[in-house]
Amino acid sequence: MDPLLQQALRAREIAHAPFSKFKVGAALEDTDGGVHTGCNVENATYGLTVCAERVAVFKAISEGARKFRRMAIAADTDVLTPPCGACRQILWEFCGDVELTLVNPRGKTEMFRLKDLFPRPFDASFL
Ligand code: THU
Repeated sequence: MDPLLQQALRAREIAHAPFSKFKVGAALEDTDGGVHTGCNVENATYGLTVCAERVAVFKAISEGARKFRRMAIAADTDVLTPPCGACRQILWEFCGDVELTLVNPRGKTEMFRLKDLFPRPFDASFL
């Protein structure tokens, strides 16, 4: 299996999801080949929960990475789990029309471009 997908699946295993029990992992590859992983981190107030995708993006940005090639997103669902709306906005902001591969632990995969999941985005070009 593609190592980026394996890293997303591994990140999923260490997700902090005691409330929903819905574990998600993400792995973001930068243009230097570096990989930044993330898992969902839930909070007792629920609303402060951060999704795996945003954890991966913010980790990458905070480590100095600025250009990205692709992201893998792992969850244990048969209909593969896509990024939520908030994550699509953040992915657009930092990664542009990035390639997204969804994967589950049984090896099912599906690939998308972000622009197909997030048409007509609001971004800095409007400001
Ligand atoms: N979640 C993610 O981490 N990424 C997604 O793409 C969908 C949802 C998390 C948030 C929350 O911890 C749990 O999954 C259930 O919504």
